[in-house]
Amino acid sequence: MTPDLMEEGTRRREAYAQKLAAASATESGGRQAAFSRVLKLGEPDFAHGVALYLDDITVSFDGFKALNALTLQVNVGELRCIIGPNGAGKTTMMDCITGKTRPDAGRAHFGSTIDLLRLTEAEIAQIGIGRKFQKPTVYEELSVFENLELALAADRRVRASLFSRLTGTQLDRIGEVLGTIHLKGDAQRTAGLLSHGQKQWLEIGMLLMQDPKLLLLDEPVAGMTDEETERTAELFLTLEGKHSLVVVEHDMKFVDQLTQGRKKVTVLHEGSVLAEGLLSDVQNNEKVVEVYLGR
Ligand SMILES: Nc1ncnc2c1ncn2[C@@H]1O[C@H](COP(=O)(O)OP(=O)(O)OP(=O)(O)O)[C@@H](O)[C@H]1O
Ligand SMILES: [Mg+2]
Repeated sequence: MTPDLMEEGTRRREAYAQKLAAASATESGGRQAAFSRVLKLGEPDFAHGVALYLDDITVSFDGFKALNALTLQVNVGELRCIIGPNGAGKTTMMDCITGKTRPDAGRAHFGSTIDLLRLTEAEIAQIGIGRKFQKPTVYEELSVFENLELALAADRRVRASLFSRLTGTQLDRIGEVLGTIHLKGDAQRTAGLLSHGQKQWLEIGMLLMQDPKLLLLDEPVAGMTDEETERTAELFLTLEGKHSLVVVEHDMKFVDQLTQGRKKVTVLHEGSVLAEGLLSDVQNNEKVVEVYLGR
């Protein structure tokens, strides 16, 4: 590469880093909130095997209870699918976990020591909870590799020097994540040219760069082709165990693939847990059938 090309690359990436810093003022806390991870808050304690514990959480919007005494536990390394009809409160639940919405009542713990309700949205992201929104928000003009590189920026201080040189460990980590998200052959491709599914995987890869303990995925396969959906299920199954995953999805074939006939799913309805159990069991549960049919 010629020096001026390299300079141009550096300039372009610095401009993005600045844009990124400015994004922290957005509703969701911006990239900074989603991907930064500064452990000044102390490491969460997972010795008891619990990753997430929601206890009696209630969220009201003008008197309407979007969540109504919701209690839910997700264990370390568990992949939990959450299903439920539209308006059941699934997204609101994720908003509470990530600090976007404050509950009126209840408790929310990350591990056994971290009280999520005392942390800001940015702090929650920093402590190891990554959230994937439905719409992919990758940096379209940057390459796949550069997107992952940006996500690596652990904090503002690191970000200033980020693009000068990557350490071997950082390069290894990017390589590992590229493999996990099936984009190794596309590392130098401009992200904007990826398919919808590949963009979703890239965004998941960006979350993975921070090695989150808990990943929240809201309708991750919406808009994907059947093949992309299947590959996403495979991807999530490889993440299970290394991370805890909470997956909200309407696509039952996908949920079936994720649960493999042996994992528990949770059915939410009117802000509470309506049923919990194997997918085949809850699908035959009379109460569940009724709410899905809208009777
Ligand atoms: N900011 C808000 N203000 C008022 N009502 C809200 C707000 N956010 C959510 N709600 C309401 O709370 C209920 C739960 O919404 P939520 O988005 O959590 O449902 P959901 O289970 O994610 O549904 P879907 O499957 O359609 O995504 C809905 O009735 C919704 O209209
Ligand atoms: Mg939703």
